[in-house]
Amino acid sequence: MTQPSPPPAPVPAFASRDPLDPAFWDERFDQGYTPWDRGGVPERLRQFATELHGLPTVLIPGCGSAYELAFLSEAGWDATAIDFSPAAVAAARQAVGPQWQGRVVEADFFQYRPSAPLDLIYERAFLCALPRAMWPPVAARWAELLPPGALLAGYFFFDNNPKGPPFGIAREALDALLAPHFRCVADEAVLDSMPVFAGKERWMAWRRL
Ligand SMILES: C[S@@+](CC[C@H](N)C(=O)[O-])C[C@H]1O[C@@H](n2cnc3c(N)ncnc32)[C@H](O)[C@@H]1O
Repeated sequence: MTQPSPPPAPVPAFASRDPLDPAFWDERFDQGYTPWDRGGVPERLRQFATELHGLPTVLIPGCGSAYELAFLSEAGWDATAIDFSPAAVAAARQAVGPQWQGRVVEADFFQYRPSAPLDLIYERAFLCALPRAMWPPVAARWAELLPPGALLAGYFFFDNNPKGPPFGIAREALDALLAPHFRCVADEAVLDSMPVFAGKERWMAWRRL
């Protein structure tokens, strides 16, 4: 007989309520309340790394613990992970270890300038971390950072929940957001989601027009 799953851990009381403030994320990392944190590299990204030719230059915005950074760097990719929360950066440096911690940069996505042209931006739980009003500036910055032919690839969270983070998007809204700059080239179900995203996230790749 299967045992009933334990009730979810209670949400700690947090002082910061604004996900646009790095302190919001600092507090959650400091208190170990990170339900989005996968503790490793998602399966579809592992597969994607074998599919892509060459050794792309990739940016991981809002990287959190940045497990993907070590994985992609070990695959030979020129990868950089950024986050504006000092606590997230500390968690990432710890997770990736001494070899790759210089590739974790404390920076705001909207200000950061890559030192080399990007082939790819990897998305996971960054768009959905930001209130919906921020989505047009995020899409505009993705488009600004990626030259024609480059890819925006990763995980997108679909939901119509009024409160977040995570803030889910509707498929039509994502299409409308990205269609001026990108063409969708992959759209697949995800089988290894964290509970907070389960059944509501898809692996997608969008090519810059
Ligand atoms: C929900 S977490 C996701 C972390 C990671 N991508 C993952 O999949 O585990 C969102 C992250 O985005 C970061 N973030 C939010 N706004 C940012 C900004 N403007 N610039 C850089 N990082 C930002 C937060 O500090 C937080 O670490």
